[in-house]
Amino acid sequence: MSERLVIFDTTLRDGEQSPGASMTCDEKVRIAHALERLKVDVIEAGFPIASPDDFNAVKAVAEAVSDSRVCGLARALQKDIERAALALKPARASRIHTFIATSPIHMREKLRMSPEDVLESAVKAVRYARQFTDDVEFSAEDAGRSDVEFLGRVMEAVIGAGARTVNIPDTVGYNLPLQFGELIATLMTRVPNADKAIWSVHCHNDLGLAVANSLAAVMRGARQVECTINGLGERAGNAALEEIVMAVRTRRDLFDCDTRIDTTQIVAASRLVSTVTGFAVQPNKAIVGANAFAHEAGIHQDGVIKNRETYEIMRAEDVGWTANRMVLGKHSGRNAFRTRLAEIGIVLKDDEALNEAFARFKDLADKKHEIFDEDLQALVSERATEAVESVRLGSLKVCSETGTKPVAEVTLVVDGQPRQVAAEGGGPVDAAFRAIEKVMATGANLQLYAVNAITSGTDAQGEVTVRLEREGRIVNGNGADTDIVIASVKAYLNALNKLIAPHERTHPQSSRAI
Ligand code: KIV
Ligand code: ZN
Repeated sequence: MSERLVIFDTTLRDGEQSPGASMTCDEKVRIAHALERLKVDVIEAGFPIASPDDFNAVKAVAEAVSDSRVCGLARALQKDIERAALALKPARASRIHTFIATSPIHMREKLRMSPEDVLESAVKAVRYARQFTDDVEFSAEDAGRSDVEFLGRVMEAVIGAGARTVNIPDTVGYNLPLQFGELIATLMTRVPNADKAIWSVHCHNDLGLAVANSLAAVMRGARQVECTINGLGERAGNAALEEIVMAVRTRRDLFDCDTRIDTTQIVAASRLVSTVTGFAVQPNKAIVGANAFAHEAGIHQDGVIKNRETYEIMRAEDVGWTANRMVLGKHSGRNAFRTRLAEIGIVLKDDEALNEAFARFKDLADKKHEIFDEDLQALVSERATEAVESVRLGSLKVCSETGTKPVAEVTLVVDGQPRQVAAEGGGPVDAAFRAIEKVMATGANLQLYAVNAITSGTDAQGEVTVRLEREGRIVNGNGADTDIVIASVKAYLNALNKLIAPHERTHPQSSRAI
């Protein structure tokens, strides 16, 4: 029997640290449900001390999730640990993840602390966290550039203080696979109480080696990998969950461990994260890219027809690739609608939410003959973001004709008051966005505008992602409609509502409070 490789997903924490990948509380809960369907062992839901929004999101995930363990990040500070413990209180199973940097450069330049003080803070933090939960993880930030002897001392001390999982992050993505595997093996051999904890790795992708480094560590004894859907994360990102899981599963001849991930849920989770964050998945991305299982060359196609193993090492359906399936239509009733939502993992809060979503479904079914699962996901996404809307679309009229400048007339409902305005633009979408700005005067910069057809056919819904930036703060908005100008306006307003909502945040790697 092979050992368990613990999958610790940090899409909602490290993934969200990607500039522009911020998520609302509702979006985090939706992603947490998708992670639960994937059967990840641990969901790192956020950094509760960072802001009230982060705190509430961790709490909401802790309330919503019942199968996976929910984890909150905390610097090696009492106030961080207390905040994490409070946010995690509703969780069925919780973990506090506390960390402090151990590399010479971080201790000297960032923390301005001596190694002995860092060691003492680490031990104190773990002991303190253990007062709130049995499950405490300790991370040595920038372990990949730390002195191995000092790292060993820190690990021995925190395991002694009660850390059940010890994590070795390659915070800046500096390591190479052979060296990183060796580091794990050395630590696991040298630390006298190494067998009292699970050894974990957390690799960043600055040199494109996050997955390779994580796998090298697993081969040398690590039994937890911290990773994110689509490899989302700070700078070049973290190790991609789907690649780690499929590498271990596909090459089970080389690994003496396996995960409990339901791989058929991978593509759905990837799509959801991509939609929510506006981070498109490149077509040639392993496992979840649109071309990951497409064979273009005739010789390959011929081989696959004769025996698919000639060119395929995995089956597309095993990771959740399926053709669009018509699920519902104009004549489908409320029960069929509710049942299908439940089958794809969407449970609406109450009857009112169901009625409202059903009304929108009927509207859509009038415009679009066949409704697919992807349409249902988009329909519910819209509802999930309405809670934070202080600006709504009242009506929209666009005039676009050869030889004239497009004009948009928009009625916005701002805090309950209708405001009407018209503007010209380079195209109908540009005109509509200009009209909105005329009313709202946010001064936001449009950083991303992307349109994607949710399903195939000319009556498909267009799904639009808009990314806005103002004074360094970046937010994403989504909107879906069979009319892409309306979808664009919905996406713009969705982003704008997030941008104008009050917000204040601390970054986990900041030393401000230490
Ligand atoms: O990259 C890193 O070191 C981290 C730690 C907080 C685990 O994200
Ligand atoms: Zn990280």
